[in-house]
Amino acid sequence: MPFAVAVSLRYTVHRIYARKYACDSLDDDGPQVWSFFWIEKGSVPPMTHLFDPLAIRDITFANRVFVSPMCQYSSTDGYANNWHFVHLGSRAVGGAGLVLTEATAVLPEGRISPQDLGIWVDEHIEPLARIVRFIHEQGSVAGMQLAHAGRKASTYAPWAGHGTVPESKGGWNNVVAPSALAFTNGYPMPRALSIDGIKNIVSAFAAAARRACEAGFRVIEIHAAHGYLIQEFLSPLSNQRTDAYGGSFENRTRVLREIVAAVRGSWPERAPLFVRISATDWIDGGWDIEQSVELARQLKELGADLIDCSSGGNAEHAKVPVGPGYQTPFAEQIRREANILTGAVGMITSPVQAEHILVTGQADAVMIARELLRDPYWPLRAARELAQSISWPVQYLRAAQEGSQARVAVDLKNLESCFEEQHAIPGR
Ligand SMILES: Cc1cc2nc3c(=O)[nH]c(=O)nc-3n(C[C@H](O)[C@H](O)[C@H](O)COP(=O)(O)O)c2cc1C
Repeated sequence: MPFAVAVSLRYTVHRIYARKYACDSLDDDGPQVWSFFWIEKGSVPPMTHLFDPLAIRDITFANRVFVSPMCQYSSTDGYANNWHFVHLGSRAVGGAGLVLTEATAVLPEGRISPQDLGIWVDEHIEPLARIVRFIHEQGSVAGMQLAHAGRKASTYAPWAGHGTVPESKGGWNNVVAPSALAFTNGYPMPRALSIDGIKNIVSAFAAAARRACEAGFRVIEIHAAHGYLIQEFLSPLSNQRTDAYGGSFENRTRVLREIVAAVRGSWPERAPLFVRISATDWIDGGWDIEQSVELARQLKELGADLIDCSSGGNAEHAKVPVGPGYQTPFAEQIRREANILTGAVGMITSPVQAEHILVTGQADAVMIARELLRDPYWPLRAARELAQSISWPVQYLRAAQEGSQARVAVDLKNLESCFEEQHAIPGR
C-alpha cells in the first residue's frame, strides 16, 4: 500500500475512534476530546503510535505492545519448563515489544498456588535464561514480574479448585499479610507480619531482582496490584497495622517504597523498572486514584520508570465497571498528574483501540493479556491492520506483507557490559 494511502487510512481510523470517544465523554474535556480536535483541525499531533519504539533508560522496545503478566500455574517447585518456553516464546515470535513473565514468587510462601513460577533460589535461573535468550533473539525484550501473594497465597490454580490448598495437597501454613484478615471465606487466615518478616520480604525482592538480572531479564515489574501482599499494605481495607507500616498514607506505602528502593539498588541503573498497581479498590474508603497519583510521584523519585495501571482485586464485593479499556483513564490520569510513563491494561483487544490509547496520549504502552492468549501473533496482525511496519521472524517472511523486514535480535550490548561492571555477571 502506498505510504500516503496508509497514513490517510490511519488518520481516518483515529478519527472514527476519536469521534466515538469524544461522544462517550461529553462531560469531560479530557484527552479523548482533545484528540478529536487535533485530528479535525488536520494538524499533526505529537503522537506516538503502537509500533513506534519506546526507549527507557538503555533499553529500546521495538513497539508498545507489551505482554501483560499471566500466571500459568505450570511449574513444579517454581521452575520454568517447556510450557513457559513455548508460551513466552510464542508471544515473542508474535512480535510483542516486551514479554513479561507471570507473577514470579520471590519466596516459596509468596506463591499464589503451588504451581507458580519462582525465583527464590539460584537454581531457578538457568531454565529462565534459556527462555530469555530466545525472546531476545526474536527482537522482544524479556521482563519478569516479581511478586509475593500475601494473604492470597497457598490457593488453588483456577482449574483445580477454589480457596486454600491444604498442606496435604502441597499448600503451606505460613501465609502472611500486613494484618490477620483473610481475603474472604475459604481463603487462608494470614499471620500479621513482624517487622523482621517485612524486612525479610524486602530483601527477597532485591535478591530476586539480582537473579532475574543474572537470567538475562532486562525489565523488572514489581507486582503491587490485585490484592497481593504489596497492595494489602497500600489499602486501608487490608492494612490495619498501628506501627510504621500502617495507618497514614506514608506508612501504608512504606513497604512498596522500601521494595522499589531495594530492587533499584540490586537492579542495573540502566535497566527499566516498572510497578503494577491497582489504581483503585473500587470501594469507598479504600485505596483510590488520588493516592495512586501521589504514590506514582514518589515511586518515580525512587527510580521507577513506568506505572502499569490495573485495578481491583483486594475486595471480593467491589463493583467494577468492566468494559473495553475500563482502566485506561487511570493510566491517563497518572501519566498526566505524576508525569511518569504509564501502561494501560484491561480489555484492550483491537488494534484500533490500542492505537487510539497511544495516539491520544493516555498511556505509553498497552499491556495485553487475554487477547494475546487468543492470538499470540496479535502484534503481526495489528501492524497489518494499522498499516504500520513490523519485522517478522525470518522463517515466516514468505507470509509477511511485501517489504517486511526480518527480525534482528534486541540490542543489549550496553547493558551487558553494565551488568558485568555492576554485578560481575558474565554475558550470556
Ligand atoms: C490467565 C491469567 C493470568 C493472570 N496472571 C496475572 C499475573 O500473574 N500477574 C498480574 O499482574 N496479572 C495477571 N493477570 C491479569 C492480566 O495481566 C490483565 O491485567 C487482565 O487479564 C486484564 O487484561 P486483559 O483484559 O487484556 O486480559 C492474569 C490474567 C489472566 C487471564
